[in-house]
Amino acid sequence: MFIVDVGILQEIRSSGITRPTVRSGTKQPSFLELFHSTRLWAGLDLPQNTSKRINLQGAYLINYDFTDRVTVVTGAGGGIGEEIARMILASGGAVIMLDVKPEPLDLPGESVNRLYGQGDLTNEEYVTKVINEGAKRFGRIDYLANVAGVLWFDKDVSLLEMDMDVWDEVFAINLKSMVHTARAAVPHMKEAGFGAMVHFSTIQCLRGDLAPQDAYSTSKAGVGALSRSLAMQLAAQGIRSNAIFPGPAQTPMQERWDTPEKVAAVASQIPLGRVGSTRDLANAALFLLSENASYITGVDLVVDGGLLLR
Ligand SMILES: NC(=O)c1ccc[n+]([C@@H]2O[C@H](COP(=O)([O-])OP(=O)(O)OC[C@H]3O[C@@H](n4cnc5c(N)ncnc54)[C@H](O)[C@@H]3O)[C@@H](O)[C@H]2O)c1
Repeated sequence: MFIVDVGILQEIRSSGITRPTVRSGTKQPSFLELFHSTRLWAGLDLPQNTSKRINLQGAYLINYDFTDRVTVVTGAGGGIGEEIARMILASGGAVIMLDVKPEPLDLPGESVNRLYGQGDLTNEEYVTKVINEGAKRFGRIDYLANVAGVLWFDKDVSLLEMDMDVWDEVFAINLKSMVHTARAAVPHMKEAGFGAMVHFSTIQCLRGDLAPQDAYSTSKAGVGALSRSLAMQLAAQGIRSNAIFPGPAQTPMQERWDTPEKVAAVASQIPLGRVGSTRDLANAALFLLSENASYITGVDLVVDGGLLLR
């Protein structure tokens, strides 16, 4: 079992235990380093009280260390994007956060480690300006998490009926904005010969729906293609690209599930018996960005509690 939880890392750190020297980067840790790192971070070498409190039960812990790493996160003003930004900030990384919404309150980590750009991702000039400003301030761009997206239940309907201006708007936000961020971030990764990206799609584009949001699912199918194409084009330059296909997750996007009964009704359809959390999705994103996934590129990772199995 793998545990991916920055909260636990913080607990271990606040318990006063020195962290192991193994960190992500170009140098591969030796077997012994990994062994000791795993034992310590899995709680096996922790003092009795800490071990009990953390209750890891011998689990292996993926060690996220984003120190000296710089990540661009879109949709960082809420939901899954905010969770990804919080986890990276909490593990010592710098984040360039982009969203139309204002900056969330009480972000963890050092304030010097973040640059918040409030604006519209469909504006390529703005996106390029913020990302380049971040690269200048932090000295590099290592990772890109393309998370922002819209699902407009009221006006995104069947492609046979919908307003094509809405169609274009959804495509501009859900797909073209990811082109803007990639075009701005990849040159910095190429310069360093290192980088990784995750792009958020949805399982909805892998199946049909009698009450569809066709612009949403069709644009999200494009996200998978974009990710795989970038993976192939950039692999030789040490840059990875993967896509995440979430199932239902409780975020502001799903504010329609506003009672425990509605949430339970959704959960009853999911084989693992619960609706996903922002943390479930952020865990997948941090894994794919990190060096723990250094041999994974071009993958479509479904994170849906087993819903697609139905
Ligand atoms: N929540 C789910 O059930 C679910 C399921 C499948 C896929 N997803 C995908 O996961 C990703 C994150 O979704 P979420 O659930 O956190 O949604 P969310 O609505 O909570 O967050 C999306 C963020 O994107 C931002 N955004 C939207 N348009 C923008 C624009 N033009 N410019 C800048 N920012 C903009 C919003 O302000 C918002 O903060 C999305 O791509 C979504 O399609 C979510």
